[in-house]
Amino acid sequence: MKLNIAVLAGDGIGPEISRAGVKVMKAVCDKFGHDVTFVPALVGAAAIDATGNPFPEETYEICRDADAVLFSAVGDLRFDNNPDAKARPEQGLLAMRKKLGLYANIRPVETFECLVHKSPLRPELVEGADFVCIRELTGGMYFGEKFESDDEAYDTCAYTRHEIERILRVAYDYARRRRKHLTVVDKANVLASSRLWRKVAKEMSAEYPDVTTDSMYVDNAAMSMIQNPKFFDVMVTENTFGDILTDEGSVITGSMGLLPSASTGESTPVFEPIHGSWPQAAGKDIANPVAQILSVAMLFDYFNLTQEAAAVRRAVNESLDRCVRTPDIQIEGEKSYGTQAVADWIADYVANH
Ligand code: IPM
Ligand code: MG
Repeated sequence: MKLNIAVLAGDGIGPEISRAGVKVMKAVCDKFGHDVTFVPALVGAAAIDATGNPFPEETYEICRDADAVLFSAVGDLRFDNNPDAKARPEQGLLAMRKKLGLYANIRPVETFECLVHKSPLRPELVEGADFVCIRELTGGMYFGEKFESDDEAYDTCAYTRHEIERILRVAYDYARRRRKHLTVVDKANVLASSRLWRKVAKEMSAEYPDVTTDSMYVDNAAMSMIQNPKFFDVMVTENTFGDILTDEGSVITGSMGLLPSASTGESTPVFEPIHGSWPQAAGKDIANPVAQILSVAMLFDYFNLTQEAAAVRRAVNESLDRCVRTPDIQIEGEKSYGTQAVADWIADYVANH
């Protein structure tokens, strides 16, 4: 297969983990005979510095014309500490989502046996926890009408039936391929937008009689995720709730540095780690490349290249089992590996097995 991949490395540890992801993707493509090309493009603070725009038109065109985007991270302390900055790196990510129509963000929350000890929860609660959060990504308060003055400010949470239906379809498709349990997370006791979500979900549930659909208020969902994470199979929710719940989800399994995500919709799909740009670690070769590498596995899944995806996951699991790990997840007493050393090990494993 011919694959044309836009590579958006971004800021902070972005370039390092991007290199790691590209290395592993190349190793898999060499092994399975795919013809892959990588086209780098600017995003985030790197793009602001070069062009003044966090998602320049040229980057948009490269993404639009690619088969998939391998995205790393954006964010820079210079902007975090400056509320008056005209352009912010995060706007690059939001512009990319909007312009590529990426309305579905798929964030798996998986437990890795060997990392259960890293979870803030008791092992018996997390062992075997395995769910997917489907976050709506181009609507809600992030993109609704906004106003900002010195005395008043607001963000509007608006959703149309069309936007709700299409994200629920994605969620139902996932539920059908998994344990057939869908939880629709909302705040229908207070918010009008949530009541529309609940109404549409109720109507659509009749089309999916094989899936058990339940609704849960977001405050209850936040609590249930730590009390009983194994309750969940597929959860679907609006943009802001999804942002918050997926950060919570990523730490309950003890593996923030290990979780990948996919964003899909109307145009080119994007694959990226859940974690951010960790500017303090930039250039130190200590960032964990596994979330980025597992997002390469999600990319292969998207194109139904299941053996290729399995090869990546096998190599990652093997690296974890053999303690080829970055410092954040290394066991006490074992020597830690650098970002590139872990990537090299995983790429070599793919090539030789
Ligand atoms: C995420 C991030 C982004 C978001 C930020 C960086 C704009 O937190 O992908 O979850 O809020 O969507
Ligand atoms: Mg977030």
